[in-house]
Amino acid sequence: MNLNFASDNTGPMAQPVLDAIVTANAGAAMPYGNDIWMPQVRDRIRALFAWPGAEVLLVTSGTAANALALSALVPPYGAIFAHKTAHIEVDECGAPEFFTGGAKLILIEGADGRMDPLALTKAIARLGTGNVHGVQPGALSLTNVTEAGTLYSLAQMAELTGAARAAGLPSHLDGARFANACAALGCTAAEMAAGFDIVSFGGTKNGCMGVEAVVLRDPARAWELALRRKRAGHLWSKHRFLSAQMLAYLQDELWLETARAANAAGQRLARGLRAMGAEIVHPPEANMIFARFDRATHDRARAQAQYGLEDDADRPLCRMVCDFTKTDAEVDRLLTLLS
Ligand SMILES: Cc1ncc(COP(=O)(O)O)c(C=O)c1O
Repeated sequence: MNLNFASDNTGPMAQPVLDAIVTANAGAAMPYGNDIWMPQVRDRIRALFAWPGAEVLLVTSGTAANALALSALVPPYGAIFAHKTAHIEVDECGAPEFFTGGAKLILIEGADGRMDPLALTKAIARLGTGNVHGVQPGALSLTNVTEAGTLYSLAQMAELTGAARAAGLPSHLDGARFANACAALGCTAAEMAAGFDIVSFGGTKNGCMGVEAVVLRDPARAWELALRRKRAGHLWSKHRFLSAQMLAYLQDELWLETARAANAAGQRLARGLRAMGAEIVHPPEANMIFARFDRATHDRARAQAQYGLEDDADRPLCRMVCDFTKTDAEVDRLLTLLS
C-alpha cells in the first residue's frame, strides 16, 4: 500500500510515458530538440492552447520553466507581482531573480492562495512608472492550482490578467498543476491559457518522469527564449526523451486522465476529512489538502504514512497531496490513521 502523500512528485511515471521513453531509446535521434517527436509536441500544444504561433520549449524542472518564462517577460530592473505564497517566491531559491538578472518580486496578499485583485491593482498603482529610483512594473505571475490547493476560476484569472494588461503588463501562469486545474474547472487548455502570455505547462507531477513545457504566445520572442534556455544549461542534448514524454502525456488526453484520477483521490480524502469533522484549512479543490490535527494524531499517522508538516503550531498544519495512482483503499487507510 502506498501511503506517501508528501507530494504528487512521489508518484511514478504513467505507463504510456515510460513506454514512450523505451520506444524513443531505439537507435539514433537528432539531439537538442531536433528529434522527430518535438514537432508533434509543438503542434499539439499550439492546438491545445489555440496559440497557433506559440514557441514550445521543454525543460526538466518547474523551477527552470518558471524562471526562464519570467526572464523572457521581465527586465533586470522589473517587478514581478506574485502571491506571497507563490512557488517562485518560497520554493525556487531565487531562481526567478537570478534568471531575470535581478527582477524584484512584489508579494500580493489574498486568502487561500488566491491573489486579491484589489491588492494587485493597488500594488501596481503604488509602484507607478517613470521613477528612476524604483523597479519598473514587469509582469504578473499566477499559480493554478494554487499553493493552497485552491483554484482560480476562469473569471478570477481573467480579472487578474485583465488588471495586469490594463497596466501594460504581461502575465505568466505557473502551471505545474495545469492539468489538475483544467480537470477540476472542467475547462479547456485554451480557456486556462487565455489571459496569459507565457505558461509553464507541467508534466512531472502528473505522470511524466521530468518534463515541463514553456509555452510562449508571442513568436517574436521565441529566439530570445531559446537562447536563454541554452545559456541556462537547460537545452538537453538527449532531448528525445523529453519530447517522447511530453508527446505521450498529450496523447489520448493522458494529461487529463491522470489529473482527474489525482483530483478524485484528493476529493475523496477531503470528503472523508469533512465527515470526521477535521479542521480543514483551505477549501480543497483539486488534489492537495491542508488540515490541522493534534500532535498525537500526527505521531500515530506519521508512523505509517508520509505527508508534509507545514508549521510548528500546537495543532500542526499538514499538507497531503494525492498523485494519480492513489487508490480508494490508500486514501481510506490514511483517513483511518487520522481519525
Ligand atoms: C506550484 C509549483 N510550481 C512549480 C513547481 C516545480 O518545482 P520543481 O522545480 O521542483 O520541479 C512546483 C513543485 O513543487 C510547484 O508546486
